[in-house]
Amino acid sequence: MDKKVTVVGAGNVGATAAQRLCEKELCDVVLIDIMEGMPQGKALDLTEAAPIEKHDAAITGTNIYEDSANSDVVIITAGIPRKPGMSRDDLLSTNAGIMRKVSEQVAKYSPNAIIIVVSNPLDAMCHVALEASGFPKERVIGMAGVLDSARFRAFIAMELNVSVENTHAFVLGGHGDTMVPLPRYSTVAGIPITELMSKERIDALCKRTASGGAEIVSLLKTGSAFYAPASAAVEMAESILKDKKKILPCAVLLSGEYGINNLFIGVPVKLGAKGVEQIIEIKLTEDEDKALKHSAAAVQELVDVMKTL
Ligand code: NAI
Ligand code: 2OP
Repeated sequence: MDKKVTVVGAGNVGATAAQRLCEKELCDVVLIDIMEGMPQGKALDLTEAAPIEKHDAAITGTNIYEDSANSDVVIITAGIPRKPGMSRDDLLSTNAGIMRKVSEQVAKYSPNAIIIVVSNPLDAMCHVALEASGFPKERVIGMAGVLDSARFRAFIAMELNVSVENTHAFVLGGHGDTMVPLPRYSTVAGIPITELMSKERIDALCKRTASGGAEIVSLLKTGSAFYAPASAAVEMAESILKDKKKILPCAVLLSGEYGINNLFIGVPVKLGAKGVEQIIEIKLTEDEDKALKHSAAAVQELVDVMKTL
């Protein structure tokens, strides 16, 4: 393949993302983990599936960053996931240390890469990746909004018994309990869901979306969601690798947009070969704007805590 993507962290999200990347023949894939043998084993297993899945993407498992040199995109999933009773924020200190080390290595070996951050707490980890990599803000992007919007879309489709393909949804804000699903901008075949459902049902779906991660954690008991998160990260990577210029909700560093400064927060952006090519400012009602600012305040609090660690 003429594109190369490195996935750091060969656990549940990372290995599933690697599988989706190669099965879509988007790129060659390098899978890195600190556990010796594990990324090599998963890469070999994926390689042996290739004849059946009919793809020619090369997959390498490794513990060293030299093998990741000159990647076009690096997806960082390294870290510890949530266990029952843990919030995403409980992961802060451990994952910040991991994110720092990983981002430094990524910048050293792939200075032109675009980083997609997945590790939690997502918005705070984006700050660490930006600082430790020294990359421009257009090349450090957090994955959360695509996942949260996909959850909202799945719930809308279930509620109305329609194809998920007919659904579109926007969830903005931080990747936490304060995230902001936007029903006015969420549609089925172009029709806003506000015309298709009662306010009570919309509120219920918004609530389920905001606690979508916790719902899976409480069912799995030993970890957090990974199929949908991997799909979301790969949708972002695909838009970059193919320069598709999709508009997707992603965590990006705002510099005054939406009245927010110097903070990573989820907003609609255009993703292409250069990374974040445009931040789209959609009109928000007073209530929506208030909810976004509330979510931004929660992220800011975490970023401030991180500075004291
Ligand atoms: P996992 O435990 O299955 O995999 C994490 C992997 O990271 C492990 O294999 C571990 O050995 C590896 N790792 C730890 N330190 C490392 C280092 N310094 N260098 C390289 N690899 C290292 O966890 P899972 O389920 O894959 O989740 C990964 C992260 O993604 C978690 O922080 C989780 O909370 C987050 N997440 C974020 C989502 C989002 O929407 N942004 C959605 C789902 C998960
Ligand atoms: C999720 O939303 C845990 O952030 C992860 O599933």
